[in-house]
Amino acid sequence: MPKKEVAASHHSTLSAQPRIHQYAREIQAYGTVSSMMTLELEEPVRLEMTEQLNLLLADTMTLRDLYKKSHWQVAGPTFYQLHLLFDKHYDEQVEIVDTIAERIQLLGGIALAMAADVAETTRIPRAPRGREEAPVQISRLLDAHQVIIRHCRQLARRASQLGDDGTNDLVVSDVLRINELQAWFLSEHLVEVPLVHAEEPPIRKAG
Ligand SMILES: [Fe+2]
Repeated sequence: MPKKEVAASHHSTLSAQPRIHQYAREIQAYGTVSSMMTLELEEPVRLEMTEQLNLLLADTMTLRDLYKKSHWQVAGPTFYQLHLLFDKHYDEQVEIVDTIAERIQLLGGIALAMAADVAETTRIPRAPRGREEAPVQISRLLDAHQVIIRHCRQLARRASQLGDDGTNDLVVSDVLRINELQAWFLSEHLVEVPLVHAEEPPIRKAG
């Protein structure tokens, strides 16, 4: 091709217009892992760990959203403290979501991200759209923590069995411990203790 034409065709591809509406094939299919030789973890190990971590991710995203729902919809005399507590736990779950998702990516896998995919994957029962009373909100959150805590213990054990110490550490230090702590903070709200008047002391028998 003469030099003049090369220059002309090159010139025609330059434009200030953004190239919108671009679509192409996926570069990696969900459920696969890319080769990450530097990690010294075999592909079957990374496949199993990324699959398990995606379950943990979907449940954590669901719990995260359940906290925001509770933060918005809570009612009653404890409104203010629960409103703040739910949002604090929400923020902590947001951090956990990012930690799990990035672990999946660094293992060569693909992290779930979108709400519809999360809804199809989570083991936490679907909450109603409507508003529920505070004790029901707290019970629902505790049940969700229980699903996650149970899975964390299984997954941590399996990860160390397979030699994936990084996943074991992440699951125990970053996910399990925070969930245990949050479950404690919630469950103390379901203890029935008097707000103003202490219970009557037991009557002593004379003699
Ligand atoms: Fe808020």
